[in-house]
Amino acid sequence: MLIAQISDTHVSTPKGPDDDFLHTSEHLARAVAHLNRLDARPDLVVITGDLVDRGEVAEYERLRGLLAPLTMPVFLLPGNHDDRDNLRRVFVDHAYLPRDGFLQYTVDGWPVRLVVLDTNIPGEPGGRLCAERLAWLEARLAEEPQRPTVVAMHHPPFSIGLPLMDSFGLDGIDGLAAVLRRHSQVERVLCGHLHRPIVRRFAGTVACTCPATAHQLALDLPPANRLAIVMEPPACMLHLWLGDAGGLVTHVSLIGDKHPPLTLHDGQGWVRDAQPPPGFHAT
Ligand SMILES: [Fe+2]
Repeated sequence: MLIAQISDTHVSTPKGPDDDFLHTSEHLARAVAHLNRLDARPDLVVITGDLVDRGEVAEYERLRGLLAPLTMPVFLLPGNHDDRDNLRRVFVDHAYLPRDGFLQYTVDGWPVRLVVLDTNIPGEPGGRLCAERLAWLEARLAEEPQRPTVVAMHHPPFSIGLPLMDSFGLDGIDGLAAVLRRHSQVERVLCGHLHRPIVRRFAGTVACTCPATAHQLALDLPPANRLAIVMEPPACMLHLWLGDAGGLVTHVSLIGDKHPPLTLHDGQGWVRDAQPPPGFHAT
Protein backbone atom coordinates (compact mmCIF):
# COMPACT_ATOMS: atom_id res chain seq x y z
CA MET A 1 0.00 0.00 0.00
CA LEU A 2 1.24 3.48 -0.87
CA ILE A 3 -0.11 6.61 0.85
CA ALA A 4 0.73 9.93 -0.81
CA GLN A 5 0.69 13.03 1.35
CA ILE A 6 0.69 16.63 0.19
CA SER A 7 0.11 19.61 2.43
CA ASP A 8 -0.54 23.30 2.81
CA THR A 9 -1.81 23.89 -0.69
CA HIS A 10 -3.08 27.39 0.30
CA VAL A 11 -5.27 27.81 -2.77
CA SER A 12 -6.41 31.40 -3.19
CA THR A 13 -8.90 33.06 -5.51
CA PRO A 14 -7.48 34.46 -8.77
CA LYS A 15 -5.44 37.58 -7.98
CA GLY A 16 -5.72 36.78 -4.28
CA PRO A 17 -2.60 37.26 -2.13
CA ASP A 18 -1.36 33.68 -2.41
CA ASP A 19 -2.15 33.60 -6.11
CA ASP A 20 -0.31 36.75 -6.98
CA PHE A 21 3.23 36.04 -5.88
CA LEU A 22 3.23 32.51 -4.48
CA HIS A 23 1.29 30.96 -7.40
CA THR A 24 -0.17 28.33 -5.10
CA SER A 25 -2.75 27.10 -7.62
CA GLU A 26 -0.13 26.55 -10.32
CA HIS A 27 1.99 24.68 -7.79
CA LEU A 28 -0.93 22.47 -6.79
CA ALA A 29 -1.62 21.67 -10.45
CA ARG A 30 2.02 20.54 -10.72
CA ALA A 31 1.68 18.44 -7.58
CA VAL A 32 -1.42 16.72 -8.96
CA ALA A 33 0.36 15.98 -12.24
CA HIS A 34 3.33 14.64 -10.27
CA LEU A 35 1.14 12.24 -8.27
CA ASN A 36 -0.65 11.07 -11.40
CA ARG A 37 2.56 10.17 -13.21
CA LEU A 38 4.36 8.37 -10.40
CA ASP A 39 5.42 4.90 -11.54
CA ALA A 40 4.25 3.53 -8.19
CA ARG A 41 0.60 4.58 -8.12
CA PRO A 42 -0.57 5.78 -4.69
CA ASP A 43 -3.67 4.04 -3.34
CA LEU A 44 -4.86 7.30 -1.85
CA VAL A 45 -3.81 10.90 -1.26
CA VAL A 46 -4.24 12.76 2.02
CA ILE A 47 -3.87 16.55 2.17
CA THR A 48 -2.89 17.61 5.68
CA GLY A 49 -4.59 20.97 5.96
CA ASP A 50 -4.34 24.62 4.97
CA LEU A 51 -6.15 23.53 1.85
CA VAL A 52 -7.03 27.14 1.02
CA ASP A 53 -5.79 30.45 2.34
CA ARG A 54 -8.85 32.26 3.74
CA GLY A 55 -11.45 29.53 4.14
CA GLU A 56 -13.70 31.06 1.46
CA VAL A 57 -16.19 29.11 -0.63
CA ALA A 58 -14.70 30.45 -3.87
CA GLU A 59 -11.28 29.14 -2.80
CA TYR A 60 -12.68 25.67 -2.07
CA GLU A 61 -14.40 25.65 -5.45
CA ARG A 62 -11.08 26.43 -7.11
CA LEU A 63 -9.40 23.73 -5.02
CA ARG A 64 -12.05 21.27 -6.13
CA GLY A 65 -11.27 21.97 -9.77
CA LEU A 66 -7.54 21.62 -9.22
CA LEU A 67 -7.95 18.24 -7.50
CA ALA A 68 -10.38 16.88 -10.11
CA PRO A 69 -7.64 15.41 -12.36
CA LEU A 70 -6.31 13.19 -9.52
CA THR A 71 -6.66 9.56 -10.54
CA MET A 72 -6.79 8.23 -6.97
CA PRO A 73 -9.06 8.91 -3.97
CA VAL A 74 -8.25 12.08 -2.04
CA PHE A 75 -8.98 12.78 1.62
CA LEU A 76 -9.11 16.29 3.07
CA LEU A 77 -8.59 17.63 6.57
CA PRO A 78 -8.64 21.19 7.91
CA GLY A 79 -5.71 23.38 8.96
CA ASN A 80 -5.75 26.74 10.66
CA HIS A 81 -6.44 28.55 7.37
CA ASP A 82 -9.54 26.43 6.69
CA ASP A 83 -13.20 26.88 7.48
CA ARG A 84 -14.99 23.64 8.42
CA ASP A 85 -18.43 24.60 7.13
CA ASN A 86 -17.26 26.04 3.81
CA LEU A 87 -15.01 23.02 3.26
CA ARG A 88 -17.82 20.52 3.76
CA ARG A 89 -20.26 22.65 1.75
CA VAL A 90 -18.11 22.56 -1.38
CA PHE A 91 -17.02 18.94 -0.87
CA VAL A 92 -20.48 17.72 0.11
CA ASP A 93 -20.06 14.62 -2.05
CA HIS A 94 -16.99 13.54 -0.04
CA ALA A 95 -19.02 11.12 2.01
CA TYR A 96 -16.27 10.51 4.59
CA LEU A 97 -16.63 14.10 5.88
CA PRO A 98 -18.99 14.31 8.88
CA ARG A 99 -22.06 16.50 8.26
CA ASP A 100 -21.47 18.53 11.43
CA GLY A 101 -18.99 18.95 14.27
CA PHE A 102 -15.30 18.23 13.95
CA LEU A 103 -13.99 16.95 10.63
CA GLN A 104 -12.67 13.66 12.03
CA TYR A 105 -13.05 10.32 10.27
CA THR A 106 -11.40 7.01 9.50
CA VAL A 107 -10.41 5.53 6.15
CA ASP A 108 -10.73 1.74 6.01
CA GLY A 109 -10.38 -0.90 3.35
CA TRP A 110 -6.61 -0.87 2.91
CA PRO A 111 -3.89 -2.68 4.88
CA VAL A 112 -3.08 0.55 6.75
CA ARG A 113 -5.95 2.35 8.48
CA LEU A 114 -6.09 6.15 8.40
CA VAL A 115 -7.48 8.06 11.38
CA VAL A 116 -7.92 11.78 10.70
CA LEU A 117 -8.04 14.45 13.42
CA ASP A 118 -9.32 18.03 13.29
CA THR A 119 -7.03 20.47 15.17
CA ASN A 120 -8.72 23.63 13.90
CA ILE A 121 -9.58 26.52 16.24
CA PRO A 122 -11.65 28.98 14.17
CA GLY A 123 -9.78 32.23 13.62
CA GLU A 124 -6.59 31.17 15.38
CA PRO A 125 -3.24 30.06 13.94
CA GLY A 126 -2.61 27.47 16.64
CA GLY A 127 -4.39 24.15 17.00
CA ARG A 128 -6.14 22.15 19.70
CA LEU A 129 -7.03 18.59 20.55
CA CYS A 130 -9.71 18.97 23.22
CA ALA A 131 -11.12 16.20 25.41
CA GLU A 132 -13.91 15.47 22.89
CA ARG A 133 -11.53 15.05 19.97
CA LEU A 134 -9.11 12.92 22.00
CA ALA A 135 -11.94 10.71 23.29
CA TRP A 136 -12.99 10.13 19.68
CA LEU A 137 -9.39 9.15 18.81
CA GLU A 138 -9.20 6.78 21.77
CA ALA A 139 -12.41 5.06 20.69
CA ARG A 140 -11.31 4.72 17.05
CA LEU A 141 -7.91 3.27 17.98
CA ALA A 142 -9.56 0.80 20.35
CA GLU A 143 -11.66 -0.55 17.44
CA GLU A 144 -8.76 -2.11 15.53
CA PRO A 145 -5.78 -2.64 17.84
CA GLN A 146 -4.08 -5.06 15.45
CA ARG A 147 -4.43 -2.89 12.34
CA PRO A 148 -1.38 -0.77 11.40
CA THR A 149 -2.64 2.79 11.62
CA VAL A 150 -1.61 6.26 10.52
CA VAL A 151 -2.97 9.31 12.33
CA ALA A 152 -3.21 12.45 10.18
CA MET A 153 -3.76 16.02 11.35
CA HIS A 154 -2.57 19.54 10.55
CA HIS A 155 -0.67 20.80 13.60
CA PRO A 156 2.37 18.72 14.62
CA PRO A 157 2.54 17.60 18.25
CA PHE A 158 6.03 18.94 18.89
CA SER A 159 8.12 22.11 18.92
CA ILE A 160 10.83 22.55 16.31
CA GLY A 161 13.16 25.09 17.90
CA LEU A 162 11.88 28.03 15.83
CA PRO A 163 10.28 30.18 18.56
CA LEU A 164 7.91 32.14 16.33
CA MET A 165 6.51 29.07 14.58
CA ASP A 166 6.36 27.17 17.87
CA SER A 167 4.12 29.90 19.26
CA PHE A 168 1.43 28.72 16.76
CA GLY A 169 1.60 25.18 18.04
CA LEU A 170 -0.81 22.55 19.30
CA ASP A 171 -2.72 22.59 22.58
CA GLY A 172 -3.39 19.11 23.93
CA ILE A 173 -0.07 17.43 23.16
CA ASP A 174 0.11 15.62 26.51
CA GLY A 175 -3.38 14.21 26.05
CA LEU A 176 -2.53 13.01 22.55
CA ALA A 177 0.67 11.39 23.80
CA ALA A 178 -1.25 9.56 26.52
CA VAL A 179 -3.70 8.14 23.96
CA LEU A 180 -1.01 7.08 21.52
CA ARG A 181 1.01 5.32 24.23
CA ARG A 182 -1.99 3.06 24.82
CA HIS A 183 -2.19 2.07 21.12
CA SER A 184 1.03 0.66 19.74
CA GLN A 185 -0.47 0.04 16.27
CA VAL A 186 0.08 3.69 15.33
CA GLU A 187 2.93 3.63 12.82
CA ARG A 188 3.07 7.33 12.09
CA VAL A 189 1.54 10.72 12.90
CA LEU A 190 1.37 12.70 9.64
CA CYS A 191 1.16 16.48 9.89
CA GLY A 192 1.49 19.66 7.86
CA HIS A 193 1.58 23.28 9.07
CA LEU A 194 5.36 23.71 9.07
CA HIS A 195 5.98 23.69 5.30
CA ARG A 196 9.11 21.59 5.80
CA PRO A 197 9.98 17.87 6.15
CA ILE A 198 10.63 17.29 9.87
CA VAL A 199 10.75 14.03 11.85
CA ARG A 200 10.60 13.41 15.58
CA ARG A 201 10.02 10.49 17.93
CA PHE A 202 6.69 11.01 19.69
CA ALA A 203 4.81 8.93 22.26
CA GLY A 204 6.13 5.58 21.08
CA THR A 205 5.63 6.32 17.39
CA VAL A 206 7.13 8.62 14.74
CA ALA A 207 5.67 12.02 13.91
CA CYS A 208 6.59 13.91 10.77
CA THR A 209 5.58 17.00 8.83
CA CYS A 210 5.22 17.28 5.07
CA PRO A 211 6.68 19.96 2.81
CA ALA A 212 4.16 22.30 1.20
CA THR A 213 3.20 22.15 -2.47
CA ALA A 214 4.25 25.82 -2.95
CA HIS A 215 6.17 27.95 -0.42
CA GLN A 216 8.36 26.43 2.30
CA LEU A 217 9.34 27.71 5.73
CA ALA A 218 12.90 29.07 5.74
CA LEU A 219 15.15 26.96 7.96
CA ASP A 220 16.29 29.52 10.51
CA LEU A 221 17.60 27.43 13.36
CA PRO A 222 18.55 29.13 16.65
CA PRO A 223 20.01 31.61 17.36
CA ALA A 224 18.08 33.05 14.39
CA ASN A 225 14.62 34.22 15.40
CA ARG A 226 12.56 35.17 12.39
CA LEU A 227 9.70 33.73 10.37
CA ALA A 228 10.31 33.66 6.63
CA ILE A 229 9.17 31.71 3.61
CA VAL A 230 11.35 30.52 0.79
CA MET A 231 10.62 29.02 -2.61
CA GLU A 232 12.63 25.84 -2.09
CA PRO A 233 11.56 22.87 -4.23
CA PRO A 234 8.07 21.62 -3.27
CA ALA A 235 7.68 17.96 -2.38
CA CYS A 236 5.24 15.30 -1.35
CA MET A 237 5.70 12.38 1.01
CA LEU A 238 5.15 8.78 0.00
CA HIS A 239 4.44 6.38 2.87
CA LEU A 240 5.08 2.83 1.67
CA TRP A 241 3.70 -0.09 3.67
CA LEU A 242 6.00 -3.11 3.37
CA GLY A 243 3.95 -5.42 5.55
CA ASP A 244 4.37 -6.38 9.19
CA ALA A 245 8.03 -7.27 8.70
CA GLY A 246 9.01 -4.22 6.65
CA GLY A 247 6.84 -1.63 8.37
CA LEU A 248 5.95 1.81 7.04
CA VAL A 249 8.76 3.57 5.17
CA THR A 250 8.48 7.29 4.40
CA HIS A 251 10.04 8.79 1.28
CA VAL A 252 10.21 12.43 0.18
CA SER A 253 9.48 12.94 -3.52
CA LEU A 254 10.45 16.29 -5.03
CA ILE A 255 7.86 17.86 -7.32
CA GLY A 256 9.04 19.40 -10.55
CA ASP A 257 10.65 18.52 -13.82
CA LYS A 258 11.43 14.85 -13.83
CA HIS A 259 15.16 14.41 -14.07
CA PRO A 260 16.16 11.47 -16.26
CA PRO A 261 17.77 8.68 -14.24
CA LEU A 262 21.06 6.99 -15.04
CA THR A 263 20.29 3.28 -14.67
CA LEU A 264 23.01 1.34 -12.84
CA HIS A 265 21.14 -1.98 -12.44
CA ASP A 266 18.12 -2.88 -14.57
CA GLY A 267 16.77 -5.68 -12.40
CA GLN A 268 18.55 -8.32 -14.45
CA GLY A 269 22.11 -7.23 -13.82
CA TRP A 270 24.52 -4.33 -13.60
CA VAL A 271 24.54 -2.08 -16.66
CA ARG A 272 28.06 -2.00 -18.10
CA ASP A 273 29.37 1.33 -19.36
CA ALA A 274 26.14 3.14 -18.44
CA GLN A 275 25.92 6.44 -20.27
CA PRO A 276 24.03 9.49 -18.92
CA PRO A 277 20.78 10.05 -20.87
CA PRO A 278 20.01 13.41 -22.50
CA GLY A 279 19.26 16.01 -19.84
CA PHE A 280 21.30 14.28 -17.15
CA HIS A 281 23.54 16.85 -15.50
CA ALA A 282 26.06 15.70 -12.92
CA THR A 283 26.53 19.17 -11.48
FE1 LIG B 1 0.28 26.43 5.87
